[in-house]
Amino acid sequence: MWSSVLPLLVALSLLQLPDYTAATQDWQDYKYGRQDSKTELHDKKHFCTWKCLLFTLQWPGAFCQSLDEETLCRIPPSINSWTIHGLWPVRAFRCCKCWPMFQSDVQELEAELTEHWPSLLQTQPSFHFWRDEWEKHGVCAACVEGMNSPLRYFQICLKLRGHFDIHKLLEDAGITPSCERPYKVAEVRQVLAPHLGDKHEIQCVTDDKDRELWFQVKIPLSQNLTTGCDHHSDADWDVASGRRAGRRNVSDRHPCPPQGAFYYVPIDHQRPRRPCG
Ligand SMILES: *[C@@H]1O[C@H](CO)[C@@H](O)[C@H](O)[C@H]1NC(C)=O
Ligand SMILES: *[C@@H]1O[C@H](CO)[C@@H](O)[C@H](O)[C@H]1NC(C)=O
Repeated sequence: MWSSVLPLLVALSLLQLPDYTAATQDWQDYKYGRQDSKTELHDKKHFCTWKCLLFTLQWPGAFCQSLDEETLCRIPPSINSWTIHGLWPVRAFRCCKCWPMFQSDVQELEAELTEHWPSLLQTQPSFHFWRDEWEKHGVCAACVEGMNSPLRYFQICLKLRGHFDIHKLLEDAGITPSCERPYKVAEVRQVLAPHLGDKHEIQCVTDDKDRELWFQVKIPLSQNLTTGCDHHSDADWDVASGRRAGRRNVSDRHPCPPQGAFYYVPIDHQRPRRPCG
């Protein structure tokens, strides 16, 4: 088994993010198949119906407030930064829903996934979160060669998480979690746009004291993982997300109000729902 995984790992090591901009012919061949194969290209277009992906990161400090009261939430002590919610092709259909994922598929990534992609629901083991994301979104992304297995898909997600270090970008600009200091959408967008693209979205929930809390950011990406893909509307996503979330009440999630203020609240591991009292 290990000998068959080895070439894949070698291939994955080509996927260092800075290399995406290099756009060498080898890279194009690797991603899209040889350009001289017309049939292959045709099949790929037919099969891969989506144009953009949304890479979504969540802020654990406010994630619990995005759930209804009955959903038990926890933030593991080791979690102190933005975590992955998912990597979702937008308006994907004809995905193969027949590709099950097992723990052994991502065994070698488990430590990293646990750190960067934890389940914050008490009743949901992290592996179940990953598996659900693979079965609902990963299988749709899998029509692109670099993401065509659970291992490759999760490896890409981890690389993206490393690449988009929102916590540090904000911190360097003096935007740090606080219960007292409200922020404006414009000041945050100004910091993030050069890195996440103009079309990134910052999402809030309203807490029980009617404060707006920043809990999520969505980064639109093209198939080649460059930023700035124009996915127009994410209405489809919201529907899908509601379905995925099951019992969770997601009606309350919205773009942070462009004019008003919102809070980037600290993570409180003891009281995940009430970081600011
Ligand atoms: C990535 O894809 C986008 C959209 O298809 C394209 O405009 C851009 O040139 C591509 N960039 C690279 C480096 O391949
Ligand atoms: C979801 O939240 C909204 C707004 O807080 C509320 O009006 C609605 O009743 C909730 N729905 C469920 C199913 O809990």
